Amino acid sequence: MDLDLLHARAALDWLLELGADEAIGEEPVDRYALGEAARAPKAPVPPPMAAPVVAPPSDPVATARALADGARTLPELAAAMEGFDCDLKPGARRFVFADGTPGAPLMVVGEAPGRDEDIEGRPFVGVAGQLLDRMLAAIGRDRRDPDPARSVYIANVLPWRPPGNRRPEQAEIDRWRPFLRRHIELAAPKVLLITGNSPALALLGRGGITQIRGTWMEAVGRPALPSFHPGYLLRNPPAKREAWADLLALKARLAAS
Ligand code: URA
Repeated sequence: MDLDLLHARAALDWLLELGADEAIGEEPVDRYALGEAARAPKAPVPPPMAAPVVAPPSDPVATARALADGARTLPELAAAMEGFDCDLKPGARRFVFADGTPGAPLMVVGEAPGRDEDIEGRPFVGVAGQLLDRMLAAIGRDRRDPDPARSVYIANVLPWRPPGNRRPEQAEIDRWRPFLRRHIELAAPKVLLITGNSPALALLGRGGITQIRGTWMEAVGRPALPSFHPGYLLRNPPAKREAWADLLALKARLAAS
């Protein structure tokens, strides 16, 4: 086949790209007849220049873990959380850390701030929060009581309000989990009340609250009771019956602890 110069050049470039590094002549070459030097293996071809090492994009979960582990007190943890980069931050008004009395034997873990919490900067202050307060009062707990023995400590999985009060996404739960775990360690409750699917996903690694509610589990080294979220109870009043059974189990466990 006759090739014009342009096509011959393109074919050669293509062969070079495939790795050809030697031109073979039309006639065979007897390399034994040429002597030792011609048969000696060629110097190894240096590998192509290594691609520049690109730093992996920063891992937000690893960053959260490092920040959380570095916090030695609740105020330090709050500062680390408030400074942590998060897509929710620009759309939220207030950082919502916790309420109640650190050191109380009971810690309630909710989902995320809603509209009222976003305005006030405290968890569970809207209608769901008012129901939660009544539920806790029924087992002798009040978040405003300065005596830890009668008080309760309250926090959420997320400290920033998700837009439109949507549920936290799994990636958000994963990102904030190290902070929540450290929060529990520093607040040091004896028992956890896990309200709804988001805190169950964060602390128990599973949702399905209707199946798991009322079953004692373990989270961050302490007994944890999953139960319905007060917001769910407002929408489904018949479920209050099961929630009441959970509260009584919680009360008994606290009395024994
Ligand atoms: N629901 C939650 O889970 N947390 C709040 O703080 C308010 C409503």
